[in-house]
Amino acid sequence: MPQTEQTLTPSENEALSRVLRRYRDQGSQALLPCLHDVQAITRWLDEATCTSISKSLGVPLIQIHNVIEFYELFYSEPIGRRIIRVCDDMPCYLAGSEHIVKVCAKQLGLAKGSGTTADGQWTLEIHPCLGRCEQAPFMMIDDQDHGYVKADSVTKLLRGSQ
Ligand code: FES
Repeated sequence: MPQTEQTLTPSENEALSRVLRRYRDQGSQALLPCLHDVQAITRWLDEATCTSISKSLGVPLIQIHNVIEFYELFYSEPIGRRIIRVCDDMPCYLAGSEHIVKVCAKQLGLAKGSGTTADGQWTLEIHPCLGRCEQAPFMMIDDQDHGYVKADSVTKLLRGSQ
């Protein structure tokens, strides 16, 4: 269950209200697209937001928590404004993903090797297969795919996406 509450800007609050109005009374079948649209505004789903979604859709809160826990791409804890996902499944691991992760973590100053930077700008995640094994080692920066990544090109990729 989400623990913290976040502060949204007035324009984010307005966008959130619009999304909740759009999905009003649509029930469970609208839950996934609604969560996706809401998270695109709020970045992660806190308890107050989950409660608002529950009321708007007419879906029990527990069902919303279960869906968020089941799907890796929904977040119930604060995350960075930008997300880097590096695949560490076998094909990517054999192609050097471990080194890619280390370079990313070093660039971002993440001593634990993953997580969110202190300024809340970046989250580095290590993922199972991202579905692009033929481009190993593979990573994503937000929604952008990056295949055949070389450790010495990571700095450029991060800089280029800022
Ligand atoms: S194993 Fe890395 S994308 Fe599939």
